[in-house]
Amino acid sequence: MKGSTLAMNKNKFVYTAFLAIAFAATFSACKDKRSTGLEYARNMYDPIAYNPDQPNKNFKDGKTAQLPPAHTKPVGFTEYDEYPNTTEGYEAAGVSMVNPLPVDTVNLAQGKHLFDVFCSPCHGEKGDGQGHLVKIEKFSGVPAYQTGASSRGGNMVDLTAGKIYHTITYGVNNMGSHASQISPTDRWKVVMYVQQLQKGQ
Ligand code: HEC
Repeated sequence: MKGSTLAMNKNKFVYTAFLAIAFAATFSACKDKRSTGLEYARNMYDPIAYNPDQPNKNFKDGKTAQLPPAHTKPVGFTEYDEYPNTTEGYEAAGVSMVNPLPVDTVNLAQGKHLFDVFCSPCHGEKGDGQGHLVKIEKFSGVPAYQTGASSRGGNMVDLTAGKIYHTITYGVNNMGSHASQISPTDRWKVVMYVQQLQKGQ
């Protein structure tokens, strides 16, 4: 008899303690409306490293986000300043730029792959200007590489490697730049493949 009363008291105690903790946890967030309340494992929210927008006394200007030192280039960055995003830059690229890669099956296969991923939604897998964005979304003004004309003069079939490279890098009118998605070397593979499509191959 005595034993079971004790056990009951113990259960009641555990139950009351549980209620008290649950109550405290629920209402602790109510003091301050902006508080997120009890936070479990705070360290998981705050990284050990500085956030880019955090003050930082290790630098003279007190900021974490620093500009790269003058006259430095990011690893793998290729300068393209001599052919700016102008008509003159486009024409100059068209005359002087030569594809540095050999035309072979490996480069062409990779060029086709990149073309199918990045360009065919508009230009179509055959380069006929009939990609699914054109057919389904009625995106207009995509010229066929074999029969179309360039808005910058001349026929698409006569576009030189440098002009295609310039177009991939900067885009033109409704076509955006692909410089951030496709590396300079990969751009030349795409150029190689586009030149095949121009010939209808
Ligand atoms: C969002 C749709 C879209 C995508 C994606 C796209 N293009 Fe275009 N492209 C266009 C349009 C539209 C034009 C015609 C722009 C104009 O001259 O007004 C064009 C024009 C061109 C031209 C002709 C440029 C000239 O000098 O007249 C080339 C070459 C070309 N694209 C290659 C590519 C390649 C290569 C890719 C993939 C890396 C690509 N495009 C991705 C829409 C696209």
